[in-house]
Amino acid sequence: MIMSRKIVSHVVFLILALFCCTENSHGKLIMQGSAGFFKGFRTLTSTKKHAYGQAYYDRVLRFKNPANGAMTSFSVTFFFAISPEDRHKGSHGMAFVISPTRSITGSSADQYLGLFNEANNGNSSNHVIAVELDTNKDDEFGDINDNHVGININGMRSIVSAPAGYYDQEGQFRNLSLICGKLLRVTILYNEKKKQLNVTLSSPDEDYYPNQPLLSLNQDLSPLFLEEMYAGFSASTGSVGAMHYMWIWFINPYLTVPSLSFGIPTFPPYPNAKSLVNRIVWLSILALAIFVALAASALSFIFYRRHKMVKEVLEEWEIQCGPHRFAYKELFKATKGFKQLLGKGGFGQVFKGTIPGSAAEIAVKRISHDSRQGMQEFLAEILTIGRLRHPNLVRLQGYCKNKEELYLVYDFMPSGSLDKYLYRRTNQEQLTWDQRFKIIKDVATGLCYLHNDWVQVVIHRDIKPANVLIDHQMNARLGDFGLAKLYDQGFDPRTSTVAGTFGYIAPELIRSGRATTGTDVYAFGLFMLEVSCGRRLIEPRAAANEMVLVEWTLDRWENGDILEAANERSRQEHNREQLELVLKLGVVCAHQVAAVRPDMSKVVRILNGDSQLPGNLLDIVLAERVRMWSETSNVVPSHESIRTLTFTEPFTSHGR
Ligand SMILES: *[C@@H]1O[C@H](CO)[C@@H](O)[C@H](O)[C@H]1NC(C)=O
Ligand SMILES: *[C@@H]1O[C@H](CO)[C@@H](O)[C@H](O)[C@H]1NC(C)=O
Ligand SMILES: *[C@@H]1O[C@H](CO)[C@@H](O)[C@H](O)[C@H]1NC(C)=O
Repeated sequence: MIMSRKIVSHVVFLILALFCCTENSHGKLIMQGSAGFFKGFRTLTSTKKHAYGQAYYDRVLRFKNPANGAMTSFSVTFFFAISPEDRHKGSHGMAFVISPTRSITGSSADQYLGLFNEANNGNSSNHVIAVELDTNKDDEFGDINDNHVGININGMRSIVSAPAGYYDQEGQFRNLSLICGKLLRVTILYNEKKKQLNVTLSSPDEDYYPNQPLLSLNQDLSPLFLEEMYAGFSASTGSVGAMHYMWIWFINPYLTVPSLSFGIPTFPPYPNAKSLVNRIVWLSILALAIFVALAASALSFIFYRRHKMVKEVLEEWEIQCGPHRFAYKELFKATKGFKQLLGKGGFGQVFKGTIPGSAAEIAVKRISHDSRQGMQEFLAEILTIGRLRHPNLVRLQGYCKNKEELYLVYDFMPSGSLDKYLYRRTNQEQLTWDQRFKIIKDVATGLCYLHNDWVQVVIHRDIKPANVLIDHQMNARLGDFGLAKLYDQGFDPRTSTVAGTFGYIAPELIRSGRATTGTDVYAFGLFMLEVSCGRRLIEPRAAANEMVLVEWTLDRWENGDILEAANERSRQEHNREQLELVLKLGVVCAHQVAAVRPDMSKVVRILNGDSQLPGNLLDIVLAERVRMWSETSNVVPSHESIRTLTFTEPFTSHGR
């Protein structure tokens, strides 16, 4: 009975996934007032004085169960930075706010932070709760200093407040300056059972997350909350200006502190008069350089036209992209006229070739593309990623553009892709466990490199056996960066439709449409299970409880014999501990709740035996799963409520 419920929930989830894919809607921040972008970073205020700006999540949040009015626990984590005009003096500050409307209109700037005005300040019919990061001491509201954190209900006078800082491991208080211009993190946890609201401020520079909150308020918040509320951020300036940068935020209908690993961005300082002068100087130099470049290219163009020497015209943007360009003729020769088809991928056909005059074998992928604009962006991206070099990544040698078609030239991988080996029936043909384990480690290392070790975070977006290629020595290389988009230091420039392979797409990716390193980890978890079990993710012909591989593995784990999920050959071999480790790691990586998944560097450490899985792992896996279902509401939740309340959304930045 329990089994069939699980399967049903999974099937419902798959249907929902399809629905969301076509709908492709996800929440975003609506920016109002002074809010906008500065050098690609979202900021709540601009250089405008005595003004306020707000950024509100456009979706309604249900903090109460409509059936019985019971309030839910919730957690909020956000990252921000404040760059003041004057290094020693902030402007007024910013606040996270939950309110009955999607924006607060008619509020005042300056000391009111865009939250209230003189008339409604303190009125209990406001239904507003805010956590303020106050950088100015306003005696009229009883502020303690010009660098404090406070919890405000319905008005500007904080109910509790404390100087900005955190408690370290020894319980010692350490100051933090809100206006240091560096990234800071705020976590707000409301426990419905304890009726307690905790606020923690910390610096992501420190690896350590404070155990003790900065502020703790014991108060039942349910009278304050209406059934439907909105959440957002607000900030204001006074006679002194400041940039209030809002980076990433998360809000969940359960208690969680997301563990994230990302490159910490450097936020631009407040633009002062001096930098304006600098900018004018730089702009003039740039203008001069562009003029010289244009004149030079015009001259060479005329020269080429006259001599009719060029058959393929290099467009200006291609010149910037680097030297990997092959001539179409060369590729045509190399592939003997695109005769030997190796396979078909999501993007186009792949041909085998040999570079004339050498023995180097290549694989040429032909991609048809109709829009020139899209092609340009796509190619620029591919070439940037093509500079990546790693033994576990397939190397991109170069490209060629001919009319509407793009050719990508890769190292030839003689043994083809992993999916050809994975689903073999007979024992002799099947991969040994050692080979499987090596493949998993290789792919983990390659993916970890993409996520952590390059200047930019690169999200692969389509991890699956068909995209893993095998060389002579059975080394695995991760290929097909066709879908990968650059994920520049945590900013995803623009979210398109959900891309990836059905079945490997993480639940939050479907909801938000935004790929992250976490969604790659999810796909990698499924990949690990698939490789170690030697079967497909969903096997429609299997018995009902075995149909969905990850459910089946977890089910066997709960039952005390996780090895039962693996294929027979792997089970018969000696290394049962390794197999068990990989299966467990696979289930954790493919967990529905992103915060439970480890990051790739952790995965690599565990696979290499440098780090261990926690002893109570099954409890964590099950607890998070149960929590997600039970705390959203006290009845079995409708999918609608899950969708609106459970989102984990890194904000986009980059006003491209
Ligand atoms: C509080 O606000 C409500 C609605 O705007 C208004 O009717 C009421 O008079 C206000 N109360 C006070 C004390 O200002
Ligand atoms: C923290 O800041 C307060 C006020 O700004 C100051 O009095 C105190 O000495 C500082 N403490 C430390 C440890 O720096
Ligand atoms: C708030 O902090 C206190 C003190 O550290 C802790 O005991 C309590 O569990 C926290 N409550 C929540 C909701 O996190």
